[in-house]
Amino acid sequence: MAKLKANINVDTLNLNLPVVEGTVGYPAIDVSSLHSHGIKTFDPGFSSTAECTSSITFVDGGKGELLHRGHPIEQLAEKCEFLDIAYLLFNGELPNSREKTIFTNAIKEHSLLHDQLTNIFRGFRRDAHPMAVMVGVVGSMSAFYFDETMKVGNLNHRKLSAQRLIAKVPTIAAWSFAYSNGSPFVYPKEELSYSENFLNMMFSGPNIKYLQNPIITKAFEKILILHADHEQNASTSTVRLVGSSGANPFACIAAGIASLWGPAHGGANEATLKMLSEIRNERRIGEYIKRAKDKSDNFRLMGFGHRIYKNKDPRAIIMKATCHEVLDELGLRNDPIFKLALKLENIALEDDYFVKKKLYPNVDFYSGIVMKALGIPNSMFTAVFALARTAGWVAHWNEMLTNEKSKIGRPRQIYTGKLRRDVPNL
Ligand code: SDX
Repeated sequence: MAKLKANINVDTLNLNLPVVEGTVGYPAIDVSSLHSHGIKTFDPGFSSTAECTSSITFVDGGKGELLHRGHPIEQLAEKCEFLDIAYLLFNGELPNSREKTIFTNAIKEHSLLHDQLTNIFRGFRRDAHPMAVMVGVVGSMSAFYFDETMKVGNLNHRKLSAQRLIAKVPTIAAWSFAYSNGSPFVYPKEELSYSENFLNMMFSGPNIKYLQNPIITKAFEKILILHADHEQNASTSTVRLVGSSGANPFACIAAGIASLWGPAHGGANEATLKMLSEIRNERRIGEYIKRAKDKSDNFRLMGFGHRIYKNKDPRAIIMKATCHEVLDELGLRNDPIFKLALKLENIALEDDYFVKKKLYPNVDFYSGIVMKALGIPNSMFTAVFALARTAGWVAHWNEMLTNEKSKIGRPRQIYTGKLRRDVPNL
């Protein structure tokens, strides 16, 4: 196919710009030479901006397709474990059995925290949000696991840091919950799988035995797989931007956790449950749909809408099915919140406003209901999202640093402030 070209006229300036095309998806105009003509592009929110090339994840919002290294999310969620996905995202291929054993053992080996890190938890008030604790503790890992002998330019150092993060974030998340309710920290166990360990650290205690349920563990694995990566979303772009300055990986991931916390992003699962609890019964759904459509009201239907998906979020479809499985297993099929969510989804999807604006349930709409059914408290939903997304964040951080052409990210602005003026004599 002939190379696409973009012809741009700015006043008397006529520019022929190259067009970049990936293996699949939209073409992009390479505007990197514009600055030499004293011209910038303007794209608040970056809806029309591709900030990098990447081979990790592809999202087709029109088709509702999500691929990780070319594999469809539906097949990965069905056939793989979360650590398979973490390995795939970072290395480019699913692990064979020997690679899986080595990787799993490395994650087990790194799942403990330096004992002094437990003191960081104690600097927080007991009622601190788990995401505040995670930002703090993950950021402080910089002081324990990345000294002057470690270089972000060294692939082995990046691999080790990535494994430490994937291994320790579940422990940090579970301990942030334990700390919030005054429970003693439960340590990871060698004989448990990645998900079994997290659930055990969350719900067992010195005199409480947590009974593993394979249906629950499988559902939790699915939650992790569905949240593992999603190309250049706000938090992943944050990790890349922070990493572009050469900052250490723990600082980068702490920044990603901070960005994910927002209700427009990863905080939406917690906000969705809060919204459903506030709506309380089906008779009040109409009132909230009306509010969501009212421009003068900043209320939005949480768990609905997406910057890219304009007809379905494939993860939401898998999550909804997982919801049915878990609630059936737990005898919660008549769970009022779940029934309310199903009703709300049906009403919204028949409403002209949502249809016209292509607003569909996203991954966060059902994930909170599943996590609530698993006994995970609202305040921990985004922490679980961060736990899963760490696999994607470290893969993108590594990819950016592997790409030698990576420069420090430094966007410009359109200045709308005062022209030069002297300071008055005071
Ligand atoms: C995640 O980027 C990713 O990939 C994110 C994520 C990932 O895996 O990393 O997929 C995870 O963050 C999923 C999204 C979770 N957030 C929510 O569920 C919060 C509720 N959703 C919205 O706030 C919103 O839909 C966003 C933030 C998700 C997307 O917003 P956009 O793309 O910036 O779209 P927009 O705000 O410009 O909305 C377009 C129109 C607006 O109306 P108009 O100004 O054109 O009249 O749709 C309306 C919006 O008011 N709209 C909504 C709505 N979402 C958009 N109206 C009511 N309820 C909503 N939820």
